[in-house]
Amino acid sequence: MIVIDDLTFQYEDGDQNALRNISLKIPDGGFLGIIGPSGAGKTTLLNAINGIIPHHYKGAYYGCVSVEGKDTFDLSLTDMSLLVGTVFQDIDSQMVNAVVEDELLYGLENFGVPREEIESRIENTLREVGIGDLRHRDISTLSGGQKQKVAIAAIVALRPKILLLDEPTGELDPVSSRQIFSMLRKLNERYGMTVVIVEQKIMLLSEFAKDLAVMKSGRLVFHGPVRSVLGHSGELTEMGVNCPRVVTLSNAMKAAGISSGEICINVDEAEQMVRKVLQ
Ligand SMILES: Nc1ncnc2c1ncn2[C@@H]1O[C@H](COP(=O)(O)OP(=O)(O)OP(=O)(O)O)[C@@H](O)[C@H]1O
Ligand SMILES: [Mg+2]
Repeated sequence: MIVIDDLTFQYEDGDQNALRNISLKIPDGGFLGIIGPSGAGKTTLLNAINGIIPHHYKGAYYGCVSVEGKDTFDLSLTDMSLLVGTVFQDIDSQMVNAVVEDELLYGLENFGVPREEIESRIENTLREVGIGDLRHRDISTLSGGQKQKVAIAAIVALRPKILLLDEPTGELDPVSSRQIFSMLRKLNERYGMTVVIVEQKIMLLSEFAKDLAVMKSGRLVFHGPVRSVLGHSGELTEMGVNCPRVVTLSNAMKAAGISSGEICINVDEAEQMVRKVLQ
């Protein structure tokens, strides 16, 4: 469980609070999507969960963050990294090896994964991320999207209890993005891995995440189950978050009093809702 209690944070060289009075609980096995405009504090929030704040980035810190019952202040970054895996927004800063398989091997060896298990972890993870064929490639020759998949594979291979991902599909086409989300769902359901993902593709979030958190100017504006947050599509649009058209349609039909108020998150559901109304 991740518990964030009234967290306010200002970077040492920041001119305003990057996070303002954030309170949020993420249960074990949760799958939380975080959205919000640029500068809202999404990356800062992830860094407050993985311990980079306060251990690496210093600043004015009020409130408390605990992971698995332990205050992040009391755990070293090394201890934290055993609990929480992070796929960073800036993937180049994350890669330390020249060849794809070494990137995975490096982390697995550092984490003390038994030798006999390492080979199957590398093979399975590369396959699940869809880059089995890239195993022996030089990372510097890969496309942005391929590098992004390597960065995801390197962290996922470690099977952290909690997985944080910061816009991991930014360089990926729709098919690869969906593949990554399907893999995250499998990790979440099969291993109970807690997934917290910052993502602009709200359509994918609404389909795969269990809960949504919406941030703006350092504040948590909405938080709850996906459908209940999407019920605020008017406010979300005003904030620059474009909701799926089926969501906007659901809210418009609700506002006009012609539906019973359900929020549809895909075309099939919307079709059923419209048919019901037409009957
Ligand atoms: N290292 C830093 N030092 C000082 N200020 C920072 C630092 N990193 C971020 N900030 C500031 O903190 C605020 C939140 O930034 P953050 O990167 O968390 O936003 P974000 O929601 O992740 O944005 P984006 O969608 O562009 O990635 C912004 O005002 C930003 O300028
Ligand atoms: Mg960010």
